Amino acid sequence: MSYTEKLYNLVQNKFKRIPLANVQTFGCVQNENDSEKIRGVLAQSGYEISDNFEDSDIVIFNTCAIRENAELKIFGNIGKLKALKADKPDMIVAVCGCMVMQPHIVAKIKKSYPFVDIVFGVNSIEELPYIVYNWYIDNKRAVSDPVVKTDIVEDIPVYRQSKSKATISIMYGCDNFCSYCIVPYVRGRERSREPENILKEFKQLVADGYKDITLLGQNVDSYGKNLSPQIDFADLLSMLCKVEGDYVLHFMSSHPKDITRKVIDTIRDNPKISRQIHLPVQSGSNRILKLMNRRYTVEQYKDIISYAKQQIPDVGFSSDIIVGFPGETYDEYLETENLVKELNFTQLFTFIYSKRNGTKAAEMEDYVPHSEKAERLNRLIKIQQDIFFKYLESFNGKTVCALVEEEKTGGYTARMANTLVVHFKTDKTSLMDSFVNLKITGKKGTVLTAELLNK
Ligand code: 5AD
Ligand code: SF4
Repeated sequence: MSYTEKLYNLVQNKFKRIPLANVQTFGCVQNENDSEKIRGVLAQSGYEISDNFEDSDIVIFNTCAIRENAELKIFGNIGKLKALKADKPDMIVAVCGCMVMQPHIVAKIKKSYPFVDIVFGVNSIEELPYIVYNWYIDNKRAVSDPVVKTDIVEDIPVYRQSKSKATISIMYGCDNFCSYCIVPYVRGRERSREPENILKEFKQLVADGYKDITLLGQNVDSYGKNLSPQIDFADLLSMLCKVEGDYVLHFMSSHPKDITRKVIDTIRDNPKISRQIHLPVQSGSNRILKLMNRRYTVEQYKDIISYAKQQIPDVGFSSDIIVGFPGETYDEYLETENLVKELNFTQLFTFIYSKRNGTKAAEMEDYVPHSEKAERLNRLIKIQQDIFFKYLESFNGKTVCALVEEEKTGGYTARMANTLVVHFKTDKTSLMDSFVNLKITGKKGTVLTAELLNK
């Protein structure tokens, strides 16, 4: 008997009702994707998935380690469970994901969060029935350092809340070792899934009516490096686009050092692929990029963008930027600011550098005061806000296609393939999860307004 079946039988007998499981996600889309698998495994083991942690019999925090403030927020949320656990000793509190791959974090949980029952690592999701089953059997705390696992486990059940949007991991881990980044240490070496397995999952999603599908990897452009027969990311995109259906294919994230003209040409030639590319630049200074170990220059970054704009006139780029990297001078920050002004990103995710123990950058001298870093961040946010409003205005009067995501009184909220949100009013019902054609009439804050056109 599998541990999934054993756990199923155990919880049926123990609770005499359907037990509830609550999974809370912190961090990126990859973590969201992992959480869907955690929910899938728990649902298969007899739990009902709940949005409410207070009533749940197992609460799982799927955590992020990318920046210190993410970790502080997570500890705050875990702390809130202390009183509840005292009232409900049978409730399991588990913490998993990137944060607990760091020994100092596990030591902190062990010492200061005695009500946490279980810690399990990234890539150990399929072991969850075994871990939870054993907790019920011996009631012993299972809080120890998880190992970084690098095998790829296929066919983990996935519990998807959305009926129209889905993500597929095409690869795991990262080999880039950007000097500020903890990801390669917590998620292990890069490895790609076999294309047949991705195609199988993709076909199933399209057959199930999913319309917005995102391929995930820390660096999708290096997809296929360890596979034979040889395949690269552009080949994978071409292969998936041959699947007939009504969908938009997105991917994230790309890496400026690895994205190829072949990838751009493939997007150009396949209308099913989104014209929105997330290409994190991180800094506009070549000296800082070198210290970050990004392995491209600002000039190379601009080259690939201008090639893409020439090949795909309606392409849009979004990006990530870190300000206040150790030793970043004011002039180097200004180079970033100028790059942002020049490139007109459709969306920008800006972060203050956060020191991550164990990374190369953590050893670099960091003398820029935090107040100065915050000032740089606020300036960038303001500049990008103006760019974004102009971008929104550029849609005025245009006809666009968008996927309906949410029902509002008297209308709906929909999302365009470039991730912009559009509100429209209608008395039509049952438009949820379908594509609609809209004419943009204006904007309200950061959201576009539109009227519905007949299909
Ligand atoms: N500090 C600040 N931002 C970081 N990122 C990654 N590591 C750090 C760090 N230590 C940002 C990068 C990356 C995004 C996902 O998070 O911009 O692209
Ligand atoms: Fe981190 Fe760089 Fe890998 Fe992205 S590519 S996950 S920033 S090491």
